[in-house]
Amino acid sequence: MKIVTAVAPVNIAVIKYWGKRDETLILPINDSISATLSLEHMCAKTSIVCSPDLTETKFWLNGELQPTDSKRFQNCLREIKKLVNPNLEYLSWNLSICSENNFPTAAGLASSAAGYACLVYALAKIYEINGNISSIARMGSGSACRSIFGGWVRWQMGNTTDGSDSLAVQIAPETHWPEMRVLVLVVNDKTKTYSSTSGMKTSVETSTLLKHRAANIVPQRTKEMITAIKNKDYKTFAKLTMQDSNQFHAVCLDTYPPCFYLNDTSRAIIELIHFYNQNKGETKVAYTFDAGPNACLYLLEKDVAEVIAMINYVFPPTSLKSDYFKGDTVPSKKLDEEFTEVLSKHCQPEGKLKYVIYTRVGRGPKILLDSQDHLLTESGIPK
Ligand code: DP6
Repeated sequence: MKIVTAVAPVNIAVIKYWGKRDETLILPINDSISATLSLEHMCAKTSIVCSPDLTETKFWLNGELQPTDSKRFQNCLREIKKLVNPNLEYLSWNLSICSENNFPTAAGLASSAAGYACLVYALAKIYEINGNISSIARMGSGSACRSIFGGWVRWQMGNTTDGSDSLAVQIAPETHWPEMRVLVLVVNDKTKTYSSTSGMKTSVETSTLLKHRAANIVPQRTKEMITAIKNKDYKTFAKLTMQDSNQFHAVCLDTYPPCFYLNDTSRAIIELIHFYNQNKGETKVAYTFDAGPNACLYLLEKDVAEVIAMINYVFPPTSLKSDYFKGDTVPSKKLDEEFTEVLSKHCQPEGKLKYVIYTRVGRGPKILLDSQDHLLTESGIPK
């Protein structure tokens, strides 16, 4: 019997992946870049038991038994097993897999990236595989390949038809830009959005803007972004991040029929950030939005206290401040009167944001050795 438990982080792209050239292998039409977020506040956790006593392979996700015949799950398992020594005794044993997210999936935060990265990382430990497993995580969910590494990560689109060169590489470790902070603004929204998978498929089929973006914009922007990250050039980093998010959402509008991921609150956040940067005479905050209305803000530590105070003022919570701000302890600051006055025209009704997570850039997946952390008993039953 073998048992392994791993945790894997969420990543938030600053150059977006949107569009596949191969749906089965999950090969993208452009490079993308992301930061991996700290495991402390948002992560997926997966335990795997591999035992000769298990009569079938089972997979539980957030407490519910999942079908194991899904194409993406099977592809990951098959590709991992290809790397295992065929004489290994336990290769034929069945698996019990149990996975959980430590953040509410209802919040609409990307969970498939952390989830598949965790699954593949844990499988690699079970079968004692070394090397870059990001191309296997990619087959679970494209963006998952970037969660295999900490810090700043590039998913190289690759050119081969078998996808062997479509993998993630680290641009810089999590220690590279220690001042960088992240605020995830969870927007109160009940409308069900279209999945990234189907949205990007329709975009590839119908959006001419996406073709232009992939061919003419992203290659140059990727280079500029890598330079900005390496040089810790916040101003350039922030501009590229916002422009890329906006172009991604323009592609969504150019998709036919269009997919709308941003809502009125998302747009109010965009306007607020531009207003703030302009008012301060300098770029201090960058926003980015994935396939949903939640915002992710990248900013430097020195500006966090004021931005938190501004968010609390413009988006008044319905809950106590201590419940509203989750994650690392938020610094407090009083907004000066003159600024509060000009800010007042941006004020929103109470409750437009559910909560805010204050976090930072973090490391890649890791193994938890304490048996208390296992989500499964040694006989493969969820605890
Ligand atoms: C908007 O990785 O969820 O978050 O490969 O079909 O599973 P599949 O899609 P997914 O798409 C993520 C899209 C995005 C941008 C990004 O993370 O780069």
